[in-house]
Amino acid sequence: MFSFFKTTQESEKSSGRVMALMNQKGGVGKTTMAFNLAHAFHHQGKKVLCIDMDPQANFSSLFDLPEMEERKNIHHLLINSVKELKAFHTSILLKEVVFSSPEGIDLIPSGQELSGFELTVAGINGPRQLILKKFIEKYELRSQYDVIIIDGPPTLGLLVVNILCAVDGVLYPFVPDRFSEQGLKNIQQVVQDISEMEITTTPKNLGYIPNLFDTRRKQANEDLEQIKLTFGEATVHEAFTNKVQFGKSLAQRKSVFHFKSSDYRELQEQFMVMTQTVEKELHS
Ligand SMILES: Nc1ncnc2c1ncn2[C@@H]1O[C@H](COP(=O)(O)OP(=O)(O)OP(=O)(O)O)[C@@H](O)[C@H]1O
Ligand SMILES: [Mg+2]
Repeated sequence: MFSFFKTTQESEKSSGRVMALMNQKGGVGKTTMAFNLAHAFHHQGKKVLCIDMDPQANFSSLFDLPEMEERKNIHHLLINSVKELKAFHTSILLKEVVFSSPEGIDLIPSGQELSGFELTVAGINGPRQLILKKFIEKYELRSQYDVIIIDGPPTLGLLVVNILCAVDGVLYPFVPDRFSEQGLKNIQQVVQDISEMEITTTPKNLGYIPNLFDTRRKQANEDLEQIKLTFGEATVHEAFTNKVQFGKSLAQRKSVFHFKSSDYRELQEQFMVMTQTVEKELHS
């Protein structure tokens, strides 16, 4: 725990905020950012819940939870929360699924079963887009946590729609290249479609995170400039370059905040700045 990072917790006990890391493109740093942001919020004294909504379960595996294969996961909780799917219900309690890390961050893990979510809910009459949102409401998760961080899958299907309908805001990590702009536009289109359906409030754009940015490559610089022009410079967070510290820390299933070495200081500060920006936005 780094005391220099601690801030006083908000005195008013407001409702917790829900945010997600999204991009249909794989390998852009969604999980890496989600994990480190969760720890950054935790170091600010916030009570944090992580929800892994990617069937790959990479986010969950970073928590090093025991017997992950056999554990019940978010899929079972979501299915259990839909009355029409009684035939698929398994008797479980939320507390049997939530894992508390030694640091004190909670996780609702994912599992392979989640890849069947779309098919499982295909036949229901109720709004299939709102299953995650209703689950969060049913268990009053907002009153139990200050921040809920959802890691999204690299797709644009029903899981993604459920996430976008459930959150207050979205962060979009991306690797600046000539395809990134289109990818970011595609997910914005989904947000726009959700907004037009008028079934829920539109999630806020918490900003774009350029990741694995190669400052020496002229093309990467041009691609990033183009993104800033398209989406507005103010919406683009400070870029993350290729950092060995991520590989090293994640291999040990630790966030950058676990390390006291000065090599990690810059990344720790970068995440702290980002949490402050995001928090302001989420509470505005
Ligand atoms: N800035 C960085 N420097 C070095 N390595 C990084 C950086 N960002 C991410 N990585 C590494 O890149 C890989 C992909 O990152 P990550 O799993 O976070 O992406 P993702 O968007 O969640 O992928 P997926 O779409 O498959 O879920 C990981 O091995 C991660 O450690
Ligand atoms: Mg991921």
